[in-house]
Amino acid sequence: MGSRWRDLQQSIVSSQFWKSIFRVGIPNTNRKRVLAMLGNVVLHLHPVKTRKSGVKMRYTWCAGGVTFFLFLVLTFTGLLLMFYYRPTVEYAFVDILDLREQVPFGIMREVHRWGAHAMVISVWIHMFRVFMTGSYKPPREFNWVIGVILLTLTLLLSFTGYLLPWDQLALWAVTVGTNMMGYTPVFGNSVKYVLLGSQQIGDQTLLRWYVLHVLLLPFVIVIFMAVHFWRVRKDGGISGPL
Ligand code: HEM
Repeated sequence: MGSRWRDLQQSIVSSQFWKSIFRVGIPNTNRKRVLAMLGNVVLHLHPVKTRKSGVKMRYTWCAGGVTFFLFLVLTFTGLLLMFYYRPTVEYAFVDILDLREQVPFGIMREVHRWGAHAMVISVWIHMFRVFMTGSYKPPREFNWVIGVILLTLTLLLSFTGYLLPWDQLALWAVTVGTNMMGYTPVFGNSVKYVLLGSQQIGDQTLLRWYVLHVLLLPFVIVIFMAVHFWRVRKDGGISGPL
């Protein structure tokens, strides 16, 4: 029984199918351990070494990590909301009321809404931490710039989401916002028209901001986040005195 079991084990481990997934085999030497780390995308996402301060809550406040976590929560709850919400003047407000009244505790919408507020707060806290620890200095100045773009994208996501409930607050906030942007020198009228999709706020505006909110801005922010995390690694990991 024992030898038959070992033969079976041996034939599985030496099969092409097994080797195509577990390329290095059991990592029982230093060389195999390094190869296993380098060849596995999940393990390789983690740095081989980190500074002590990089893993200290007192140093990073984990504010960047929290911001990223909230982004994942918002993506998930946003996806669920997309099954119910219809971005038209006729249905938008009714759908939001339904999401509040018919879903237990209105949880889906509330997690998305509160999550959005929390993400805006946590991204500011993260920026403040990076500034106070001087982590914007070389070689991290490029990542600071990527960070400023991420902050802008976060605020834009927040603002485009604000219109979607199509209530009085949303309507007038966007009317005021787009009127202000209408005062842009030279291109004011064009900027306002592009944002409203018409001369006045209406169906076109709602559709435009919906597409920006659920598709374009998330797509762009994911690309910049990937660059941001890649730069943290390439700039020698999280900064710090230790
Ligand atoms: C969507 C927004 C953002 C996300 C998800 C994010 C995420 C992260 C994460 C996970 C880290 C690793 C260290 C940590 O958690 O503190 C980090 C580091 C960093 N972030 Fe952000 N970040 C964002 C926005 C920003 C902003 C607004 C700035 C500044 C303008 C910024 C500048 C930096 C810099 C310079 C580092 C390196 C810090 C160091 O080495 O100590 N990030 N970011």
